[in-house]
Amino acid sequence: MTTNDNIVWYLHNVTKDERSKQKKQRPCILWFTGLSGSGKSTISSAVEQKLFELGHHTYLLDGDNVRHGLNKDLGFSDSDRVENIRRIGELSKLMIDAGLLVMTAFISPFKADRQLVKDLVQQHEFVEVYMDTSLEECEKRDPKGLYKKARSGQIKNFTGIDSEYEIPENPELIINTVELSIEECADKIITYLKDNRIIN
Ligand code: ADX
Repeated sequence: MTTNDNIVWYLHNVTKDERSKQKKQRPCILWFTGLSGSGKSTISSAVEQKLFELGHHTYLLDGDNVRHGLNKDLGFSDSDRVENIRRIGELSKLMIDAGLLVMTAFISPFKADRQLVKDLVQQHEFVEVYMDTSLEECEKRDPKGLYKKARSGQIKNFTGIDSEYEIPENPELIINTVELSIEECADKIITYLKDNRIIN
């Protein structure tokens, strides 16, 4: 018998539906995925600010920040990245249950892991946002100097250099941060949320 056999799911008095109605929004995860330097943190932060100003209840989970706390025991091996995304998926699911609009900004390089998160929630609750910024452009930006270190061999398993990034096949949104400004990228996402009645 595993521990799980002795644990039952407790149904609480206040439901997800009630929490969402009180917040006047349909909870979902805006799952930003893309290379390091592709603009995930910048754009998700701009979207959160706009949603906040519109009176919505949000939370932004960011790779670099979460790796300082909840996931500080994880590195960048394939198996650690899988566990990183699994935990974020479960955490996001709880936040959806709380009725929030959750934004996540993780490279999340593997299709199977993004699918795993998608399968944790209802279909309309998972919005995959692919930051379509080329490796060349990310490397040119190199805001943290990490590509330079990866090219010189100082960092191993760096996404795009010696670790794979699997491009999403059917993302709900594709964002081009080269052609559009931060403001335009954020507006495109807000428009999607309105068109799909996630917000009014
Ligand atoms: S993920 O692959 O597991 O989804 P996550 O988004 O949490 O990655 O963390 C990526 C951030 O960690 C990058 O933006 C970068 O700042 C930093 N980082 C440090 N080492 C690596 C590495 N080997 N590969 C990718 N990112 C790294």
